Amino acid sequence: MANKAVVVQDLIKTYPRVMAVDGISFTIDEGEIFGLLGPNGAGKTTTMRVLLTLIRPTSGKISVFGVDALAYSDKVRQMAGYVPQDVSVDGELTGYENILMSCKLYGVPSKERSQRIKEALGYLELQDRAGSMVNTYSGGMMRRLEIAQALVNRPKILFLDEPSIGLDPIAKRNIWEHVENLRSDFGTTIILTTHDMNEADALCDRLGIMSKGKLITIGEPSRLKASLGGDVVTVTTKNSECSARLKELGYSVTSDSSGEHCGVIVSDGEKLIPHLLENLRKNNVEVETVSLEKSSLDDVFLKYTGARIAEGDSWLEASRVRRTFRRLTK
Ligand SMILES: Nc1ncnc2c1ncn2[C@@H]1O[C@H](COP(=O)(O)OP(=O)(O)OP(=O)(O)O)[C@@H](O)[C@H]1O
Ligand SMILES: [Mg+2]
Repeated sequence: MANKAVVVQDLIKTYPRVMAVDGISFTIDEGEIFGLLGPNGAGKTTTMRVLLTLIRPTSGKISVFGVDALAYSDKVRQMAGYVPQDVSVDGELTGYENILMSCKLYGVPSKERSQRIKEALGYLELQDRAGSMVNTYSGGMMRRLEIAQALVNRPKILFLDEPSIGLDPIAKRNIWEHVENLRSDFGTTIILTTHDMNEADALCDRLGIMSKGKLITIGEPSRLKASLGGDVVTVTTKNSECSARLKELGYSVTSDSSGEHCGVIVSDGEKLIPHLLENLRKNNVEVETVSLEKSSLDDVFLKYTGARIAEGDSWLEASRVRRTFRRLTK
């Protein structure tokens, strides 16, 4: 069994009028990329900050690499790097100076600082702009700088709160690549929060879906999608017997299938299509069109939380507004 990087048991965090985290339990393996997915106010950031020992929970147990986080918060902080949800870089300083500040905050010894800064800048491909003021950086560069800051104490576990929020698709992929490299190069365990289904699907080994402080379900993205019942392959044909033939052949046919327009539910649509077409041909059903509808994490989300979070411009825009708003209200 893989070593456990994080073990959370019955974690609760209440505020006067809200139960931000409502009795959640989960584990994260060493070297795993684990995602917390959920709508606004689900409790993702609170969970992350409790694990980081920045907020004290109301009750529950947390261990990070075998260390009791409530009793030994210093030890946990020494092992962890944190990229907060809101912008944390100082625009009036250069990239180099921002990382130097992190070195001081994390207690990196003076004689090691320049080497650590060089390493972090190089790793996040920021060395060419190290001397520029951060308010001249793009959003993607700022996020990379924030990750670089979190790496100066060479963390065993990295916490990323919405790592690619508000970034364009190319900058987003660039962040994902860096996160994956961290795991493959150093075996870093990574816990991230996101609303982005593509991010969760592309990056996370396992996901916990949160809603209203509760952990609704947990699993590998592919398993969560399979739990919906699978993909739907739809065929159209002039043969009105198609639906009946498919049932005779043992396929699971969708309830809205009519004689000439039939949907078949399967776990792996791409693989099924050639066999399905061959079977229909043998049964004298000539297929005119075939289409495949893959189940998505968005469908998983809808099933478990009753809400749909579609990745799109309006959502990105809202995220950006929220991020800026939080900065203004700090
Ligand atoms: N310091 C606080 N005092 C009172 N309530 C709080 C505090 N911090 C968080 N909450 C509440 O706890 C709940 C969970 O908030 P949290 O920030 O953890 O959600 P989230 O899942 O990270 O949401 P988002 O996607 O918007 O970042 C919300 O209802 C929030 O208003
Ligand atoms: Mg949050």
